[in-house]
Amino acid sequence: MSDTTKIKIGIIGGSGFDDPELLAEQSERAVSTPFGEPSDVILEGRLNGVPCALLARHGRNHNLQPSDVNYRANIWALKEVGCTHILATTATGSLVEEYKPGDLVILDDFIDRTWGRKCTFYDRNECGPRGVCHLPMRPAFCARARAALYAAARDRGYTCHNAGTAVVIQGPRFSSRAESLMHRQWGGHLVNMTTVPEVVLAKEAGLSYAAVALVTDYDCWRENETSVSVAEVLEMFKKNVKKAADVIIDAVQILAADQDLSYLDAHKELVASAVMLKE
Ligand code: ADE
Repeated sequence: MSDTTKIKIGIIGGSGFDDPELLAEQSERAVSTPFGEPSDVILEGRLNGVPCALLARHGRNHNLQPSDVNYRANIWALKEVGCTHILATTATGSLVEEYKPGDLVILDDFIDRTWGRKCTFYDRNECGPRGVCHLPMRPAFCARARAALYAAARDRGYTCHNAGTAVVIQGPRFSSRAESLMHRQWGGHLVNMTTVPEVVLAKEAGLSYAAVALVTDYDCWRENETSVSVAEVLEMFKKNVKKAADVIIDAVQILAADQDLSYLDAHKELVASAVMLKE
């Protein structure tokens, strides 16, 4: 294992990580940020020896809807407690036949259909970092963390797709049929409500971020089928969330075994090169 004092892995999800025995040396930390309060307290501890920090994206009681999550506070707080990586889970609808309910997908790109969400820390009106940040979004996700998630899923024998573009909608409503068909035409494989701005802010914070999507439904584009429902999403999520949690737990070990952590410096250098007018 590499020097585990050099890495700490934030896990954003919530469901699937509720085993009270999961983390050794567990403690709760309430963190305030210049951008407000995160969704909940952060649970810190060691996951099979590796320092980790768990945060429930929607709060532990799932009281926040996707557009009300303070994504900036969540990412800032995880960075504040020393995280170098973030691994996230997300429930998604499928826009293609091959990605079936129950499958896992390691996201590799997104299409942003959200609006009005705070998508940058470089907001000149607030007490964040100085300057204007024009961050490249190709690749959107950290290649090393994605590879770790995929290897973990493959080793567990789970059906897992190595790539997928998520269309991120504003919610809280699901898509209309015309929207769903349009998202397919755009090249989307999946649809969810939270990947943007989470991935964008993690990248701006210079962190390694990757997400494992759990397919819960076929949205509403298929012929002769009714629309996705909350009951369907919740049932599929409950049935399969352990798979996503297992993958993250194993990926933590894979990342901790890396001797070469130079990709973490590359993330920070990319941000430094993207900031103008720092004065
Ligand atoms: N999350 C899970 N299924 C979804 C869908 N069909 N649309 C948006 N978000 C989702």
